[in-house]
Order: sequence, then structure tokens, then C-alpha cells
Amino acid sequence: MLSLTNKRILLGITGGIAAYKCAELTRLFSKAGADVRIAMTRSATEFITPLTMQALSGNRVHLELLDTEAEAAMGHIELARWADLVLIAPATADFIARIVHGQANDILSTLVLATSAPIAVAPAMNQAMWSDPGTQSNLQLLRDRSYHIFGPAEGEQACGDVGLGRMLEPAELIEECASLFKSDYLAGRKIVITGGPTREALDPVRFISNHSSGKMAYALAAEAVFAGAKVILISGPVQLQTPDRVTRIDVESADQMLEATLAQIEAADVFIGVAAVADYRPKNAAQEKIKKSTGEIQLTLVKNPDIISEVARLDPRPVVVGFAAETNDILENGRKKLQKKNLDLLFANNATETFNSETISVTAISPTGEKEIPTANKNVVARNILQLIAETLTQKS
Ligand code: C5P
Repeated sequence: MLSLTNKRILLGITGGIAAYKCAELTRLFSKAGADVRIAMTRSATEFITPLTMQALSGNRVHLELLDTEAEAAMGHIELARWADLVLIAPATADFIARIVHGQANDILSTLVLATSAPIAVAPAMNQAMWSDPGTQSNLQLLRDRSYHIFGPAEGEQACGDVGLGRMLEPAELIEECASLFKSDYLAGRKIVITGGPTREALDPVRFISNHSSGKMAYALAAEAVFAGAKVILISGPVQLQTPDRVTRIDVESADQMLEATLAQIEAADVFIGVAAVADYRPKNAAQEKIKKSTGEIQLTLVKNPDIISEVARLDPRPVVVGFAAETNDILENGRKKLQKKNLDLLFANNATETFNSETISVTAISPTGEKEIPTANKNVVARNILQLIAETLTQKS
């Protein structure tokens, strides 16, 4: 189940008899390579113990909104941002009604309000409760808000009734979740991405560099592969694993990054410049280690090539997408860069919040307008960014 590998699933368990199936569900998520965190309502703990769920997920279960210990490990807002997908299974009629009204009176309903990840709901209840107009109109409201509704199935119920209202089986829920991550909106596209910092040598052992972690570029590469693209990731030195099925080319300096980019750019549909390329490099890198001297030393720096501008000058050229990590006047500086570098799209963000962070918020700037992508983990934001890029591709072709 490739599409669940490394996915962060927040499983919310509410108080229905089907809660006992969450043990198997969690085991199947882990087997598929997903990282599962669990939040339970108080009534869910009457049906299955938090200890069972902790043992199976390998993580402490979140039970209380105001729990200092749990908040110290991972606070509820952090947990909401961490998730790639929130799955509520089983979802009782009462819990569905509560989230329809935006209540936040326990840990799980609060997480639902706070997350910007997709939310899926697996209803489980008595057949009469399921067909009640109140439940049905609540479900419709959730559908209208783009919630995914998985099931319910028809059959024998714990109370002896027969009808619609059984929670889908764990294996079916896993399939449904996996299909949410499988999307082919970039099928057959070639995407070249630069990521991470560059290193500009001063001598054989020293360099000028920056704090870029490469996480955003790697998240984009992984998501683009899920979306069906062929991805070439030209990477500065970072401490990250190459995502599945991504072709990674390691470089150090801006010059090497430019050379690798131009060698790979032919027939590319999209170029995404995420790398934090050093703007300057030492004019002459010393052949031998620079010796300590008693006084000041002078460094002469020369301008590095602007990789993204070089790509934007090509004819024919791919859709060219830039990033701008700014510390001030974020939108204004972003707009200027879009124009100056002749880009199709630029994602502006706050540099002080972004470097080395798990989460990010960005504003998409195009020649025709702007759109905010709210704070979420870099994988969720990467998907939103790629969907906007796909729209631009469709408009251009
Ligand atoms: O550093 P700056 O804010 O100008 O970066 C904006 C965009 O330009 C980013 O997408 C970055 O990857 C790209 N860039 C580049 N080559 C440079 C400097 C920046 O491709 N030398």
C-alpha cells in the first residue's frame, strides 16, 4: 500500500461498539507504513482501552484536552497540524452532530476544528439512528464541507437490528484512506525541483551556507510522485531520506546546482525552485586551508547565478515556480520577485517561521492574483501547492 507509506494518520475513536475494530485498524495502518496517533473521546475508552491503542500505535493516546503531560509531548494544535489525514472511526451520531456545530468540548472535537488536513468520517450506529433525518442532514453538511464519508455498511448490528449503520471493516477503511492519497493530477508530467541549501567553498574545509533543511522540497517531491509525476530532485546537502521513486541528484554549490538543472530541464513540464541558493560565493576558494592570522581577513564575494531566472529565460520553458522566504513585507517582496524573475507562480512565506520547521503557511502569488494556503504540515501544504501548479499547467496547455 504505497500511498500510505510515511503518511501521518490521526485516528479519532468515539464511543461505539465498533471501537474494538480500531485495534486491527491501527495494526493495518502501521503495516502499510503509516504513522498513527490516536485521540479518543471519554466514551470510546468504555469500549477499548487506551493502553491497547497505545501498544498498537506505539504512541501515547490523547484523551484529555487539558492534559499537561500530553501537551508537553505534542500539544493539540501541533497534533492537528501534524496530521496528513484525520480519520474518525467509529463516528457516532452524537459526535457527527457535535462536529457539524463546530463544538470543541473535548480533545477530538477540538482537533477536528483545528486541523487543516482532510477529514474522513466512518459512521457507525443503529440503522434507525442512521436513517433519522437529523443524522442524514448532518452528514450532508459534512459532505458540503468536503469531509469524506466512508460507509456505513449494511448488515447485522450489535443491537440485533439489520440494516445500514455498520462501520466499514478495517481493511476497507485502509483502502478508502489510501485512495485519498492516490491521485493522478500530475500523471505523465516531468517535474524538476531544487531543494536544500548550497555550500560555497572558502577553502577545502570551510563554506558559506544557510539554515535550509530541504523539508519543503522533499515534501513536494514525494507528493508529486503520488500525483503521478516523474520527479528529479536536485538537492543541496541535507539530512533527509530520498522519497520513494524520486531521482535525486546531489550537488553542493550554486554553480553545480545550475549545471545539474540545465542538464535535466529538457522536456520538463514544471520547474520548482525551492532551494535556498547562496546569493554570493567567495571569489577565489583557497586551494589550501586558510591559516589563522592575527588581524582581520578580507573576503571578496561574487554573485552566484540565479538558477530560476536562467530557467525562466529558456525557450520553450516549463512552468516556472519559485519560493520566497522573506522576513519582512512578505507579499510585496514576493510580488516583486515574481515579476523580476519572470515566474508563473511564487509561494511567499515567513523565513523566520519556516526554516527547519515541520509546518508552514504560504501565499500563492501569480500574475493574476493571490491565494493563502493556511498553516499545516509541509506534506499537506505541498499537496495544495501542487494542485495550484497543476491548475496553472492546465491553463497553459
Ligand atoms: O533568494 P531569493 O529570495 O531570490 O529566492 C527566490 C527564488 O529564486 C527561489 O525559488 C529560489 O530557489 C530561486 N533562486 C535561484 N537561484 C538563486 C537565488 C534564488 O534559483 N541564485
